[in-house]
Amino acid sequence: MTNIAILGFGVVGSGIADVITQNQESIEKKIGDKINIKYILDLREFPDSPFADKIVHDFNIILNDDEVSIVAEAMGGLHPAADFSEAALKKGKSVVTSNKHVVAEVGDMLLKTAEENGARYLFEASVGGGIPVLRPLGTCLAANKINSINGILNGTTNYILTQMIDFGKTFEVALKEAQQKGYAEANPSADVDGIDACRKICILAAIAYGKLIDPAKVSTTGISNIRLEDVKNAADSGYAIKLIGQAKDVDGKMAVSVSPRLVPYDNLLAKVDDVFNGVLINGNAVDDVLFIGRGAGKMPTASAVVADIVDIAGRPELKNQIWEKATDDDLAPAEENVSRYYVCVKNALNEENVKKVFSDISSITLRDGELSFITQPLKKKVFDEMASKLDVVSWFEVL
Ligand code: HSE
Repeated sequence: MTNIAILGFGVVGSGIADVITQNQESIEKKIGDKINIKYILDLREFPDSPFADKIVHDFNIILNDDEVSIVAEAMGGLHPAADFSEAALKKGKSVVTSNKHVVAEVGDMLLKTAEENGARYLFEASVGGGIPVLRPLGTCLAANKINSINGILNGTTNYILTQMIDFGKTFEVALKEAQQKGYAEANPSADVDGIDACRKICILAAIAYGKLIDPAKVSTTGISNIRLEDVKNAADSGYAIKLIGQAKDVDGKMAVSVSPRLVPYDNLLAKVDDVFNGVLINGNAVDDVLFIGRGAGKMPTASAVVADIVDIAGRPELKNQIWEKATDDDLAPAEENVSRYYVCVKNALNEENVKKVFSDISSITLRDGELSFITQPLKKKVFDEMASKLDVVSWFEVL
């Protein structure tokens, strides 16, 4: 019998219990053993839930029960989730999680702790919700040098942008809907300001390059500076604006960032809408590979968590990844990054004035006294210098 404990009975935790219960027979066939949810840890009581008799309030009950071999952490937040995970691993219990905050901050330490204690630490659900992407990146694409990863990694912001652009809804209405559907973080600033996407691109980069970057060191911009005018200008020129997490190899160093970018319509990421996430990986042998699926929500996220449980129970011989911490020396300098830029300026008077600064521009659009255009590829420091000479209203990188 494989006994598991679920930490947290919120959106994801209850989804894990539901998936295991609904698919118990096929899961048991896959692992070749019976599976039993022995405990669910939560501060609250759930008297009307079919799982009411599993609820406990003290983590030590789980920690000290040798029958529990797998802990599914779905609490959210860094503490106490990270502490409970570490304690469980130290007892030799394997831990699975959807908690990107914990993985992005202390995943290196938890992987090492798992390895030292004969346990496993898996976190497929922490990036891309239900999309299988971490395991394929770490195993099926292991033969490649990863040139770049570009991802729409936050379902809430993608949902908000899609609702605003396609249905003319206000930001507030769209955010409320995302919260009602269980997509949004407890504090929606983590979604809107790009913090959640930042954690996820750090995890993807760690799998691709073996080094975990401190999320605080990643240049991160959210969606609150996207104006409807920019969306229209971009659309007129054949681009969708998406919040993109990017990690790329620049001469052996990692360049990692999160920001809204103009994505050309002929790039498959431009068509990833609503709560869907998309991760486009370029490897030097395989070329482009695209992963798409539901990036948030109860059952898609639970699907990935339970798959990790099945993996641990069914294939106990597999090993953990080992990550080092990235140092400043591992990171490519942001000012040297080369990109094309979308720029919108006011009081430009005419195209010729702009061309005196940015000599080579395209996709020129004039709307309500503002002139927008796309530059040639420029180093960030050169772009900053040029942009300072004009009355810039908004700018975004072009993918
Ligand atoms: N708030 C996250 C999102 C949940 O919207 O993508 C899934 O990680």
